[in-house]
Amino acid sequence: MTAVNTVMDLSHDGEVAVLTLDSPPVNALSLAVREGLFEGFKAALASEAKAALLICAGRTFISGADITNLGDMLKGPSLEDIETLMDGADRPLLAALHGTAFGGGLEVALCAHFRVAVPSAKLGFPEVNLGLLPGAGGTQRLPRVTGPQKALEIITSGKPVRAPDALALGLVDDLVEEGKLRDGALAFARLVLSEGRPLKRIRDRDDQIAPFRGKPELFEQFRKANAAKFRGQIAPDWIVEAVQAAVEKPFDEGLALEKQRFFQAAMSPQSQARRYYFFAERTAQKAPDLPPETKPREIRKVGVIGAGTMGGGIAMNFANIGLPTTLIEMKQEALDRGLAVIRGNYERSRGARPEETEQRMSLLTGSLDMADLADCDLVIEAVFENLEVKKEVFGKLDKACKPGAILASNTSYLNIDDIAAATSRPGEVLGLHFFSPANVMPLLEIVRGAKTSPETLATVLELGKRIRKTVVISRVGPGFIANRVASARLAEINSFLLEGLSPARVDKVLYDFGFPMGPFAMMDLVGLDVIPDPPGQKTIRSWMVEAGRRGQKGGGGFYDYDAARNPQPSPAADQVIADFRQAAGAQPKEVTDEEILERSLYLEVNEGAKVLDEGVAIRASDIDVALVNGYGWPVDRGGPMYYADQIGLDKVVARLKEFEAKFGPQYEPAPRLERLAAEGKKLADRS
Ligand code: NAI
Repeated sequence: MTAVNTVMDLSHDGEVAVLTLDSPPVNALSLAVREGLFEGFKAALASEAKAALLICAGRTFISGADITNLGDMLKGPSLEDIETLMDGADRPLLAALHGTAFGGGLEVALCAHFRVAVPSAKLGFPEVNLGLLPGAGGTQRLPRVTGPQKALEIITSGKPVRAPDALALGLVDDLVEEGKLRDGALAFARLVLSEGRPLKRIRDRDDQIAPFRGKPELFEQFRKANAAKFRGQIAPDWIVEAVQAAVEKPFDEGLALEKQRFFQAAMSPQSQARRYYFFAERTAQKAPDLPPETKPREIRKVGVIGAGTMGGGIAMNFANIGLPTTLIEMKQEALDRGLAVIRGNYERSRGARPEETEQRMSLLTGSLDMADLADCDLVIEAVFENLEVKKEVFGKLDKACKPGAILASNTSYLNIDDIAAATSRPGEVLGLHFFSPANVMPLLEIVRGAKTSPETLATVLELGKRIRKTVVISRVGPGFIANRVASARLAEINSFLLEGLSPARVDKVLYDFGFPMGPFAMMDLVGLDVIPDPPGQKTIRSWMVEAGRRGQKGGGGFYDYDAARNPQPSPAADQVIADFRQAAGAQPKEVTDEEILERSLYLEVNEGAKVLDEGVAIRASDIDVALVNGYGWPVDRGGPMYYADQIGLDKVVARLKEFEAKFGPQYEPAPRLERLAAEGKKLADRS
């Protein structure tokens, strides 16, 4: 075995040169890895070997670009240089895949003549999630293997393809036994040599694309079918363009187009926002003050109090990862109803197999007696939103649960410290704030009380990962992070209506910005009867409810709804709005679309700055993660804090002051915002 460089070894096994890449943790395409690949293939091709096999040590094949160090991308051999070298090979090249062959990793593998994988391997192009497209031949080579339709699906979805499916698609040539990749791949290499299989490069293949040449309908239809999904995004559109070029144009022309689009995408604000956001999510899982030696406790059994809307969804999260979960209710009837709703959710979920539903249901036990929680490691309370009720429940829980068990509340607004004070173990009490529906929504706010221990925090951070939630750490404060910031925008809808705007106009402005729906449509979806009014205010919401309009679930809301729940203009709702305006003696104003947008978003930015000032959130990026995952903030804009930083805080503050003069004190800039603007800083700057 000889070392090619620090990450690549070259050895020989009979007639086969074996290149072993070992660059932990995930063999990403760093400068050293690219140098290793380039020099390694050069050495293998200069040797006596009749074939060369690339395999990776550790837990995965090359898992993609190294986006932590984009500056290094311009140094050393490029991915293209490596691919040109591989394309010029005069003997069989093979890639042996395990773990994840993603992005640039898959592009390298597609330059080998043959690919062998273990069944657990996954192949894919996740670039689209970062607002990018594959930039080293992925859009040109994949369609030549799978045909354009499959290639479009794989690249625009960013979803991985499992090895057995990749085999069926011809993307890998053989599956070998799990754990025996090297032996299996070597055996395959020898078979290739003994059979004298022809060296067909993917770039020269035409069989899968020729049938689609001169048929633009395929691409038009794909665009049309996915219009809603791709709304506002640049990358999917360019992926379709590049795959179409693969079908219509010579290989090198397609490659040049792909490269041009890749660089354009990389420079786009959208991709920059998505890359920012990618790191924001990872950072959010970290509590900077948590001592590194803190050990999470093991969670083997969970309890949930209250089998209502939230409790049921919360319990599903744990059954889904195989944890026995006990649900507590006050009455048998409520328990039966809660368990039936869970069963229904499992049965209705996509691709649900009956035995899976049964397996999950078998992990869920109902009970009317808190004593049955004695051996739980974690109990989450989801009873009515009432401090006295919660304090009573926590007092009882404290007695029923074993020492060391963590007691969490799913409260949306209440003070965790008050709840913790009802127990003898405030170090083990905290908030775990799920969003509705709790089995679907990705966000989990972890609310640290004043006395929550590091061990408790470390335990739930790890648990959040296990149940695949995107976690954000919050301190105690009214509404924590997501609800508080989002409600700043929702609080302004009354004013919009009083100024003479229609719900449809306001909703359209925010939909066009990239939200899945505007604020009025969202309130209709949540249910107008469950949203609280700000203290001392009577809002349009309560007028609607009094008129029998509770939203989608009953009587319509700001809109009427057809059988498919599509919003329709509603003369009845318009009448309620007209009466509301008249009662307030409101005068219509001229408001531009730009103003609607700025007022809505800057109110959130301002509230976010207050949340930072109060120490409720520790980082601006955590607020972005909370709003993207909890309230559908468009990830292409990075989130409210990032968005404001891009606009420039001086501009945001200047507009807030104009709005304050024109519309009222709710627009008064937060002190932090004014200070950062004056200092020419960003919200993202730690200060
Ligand atoms: P819900 O009314 O649907 O369910 C509450 C359940 O708790 C009921 O089934 C009730 O019978 C049961 N319950 C009440 N007291 C109990 C006790 N002492 N022992 C056992 N069971 C008891 O309410 P929902 O919507 O599930 O809300 C629960 C909690 O989750 C509240 O604190 C709420 O603020 C919070 N939350 C609600 C969200 C939502 O969108 N609905 C979102 C996030 C948090």
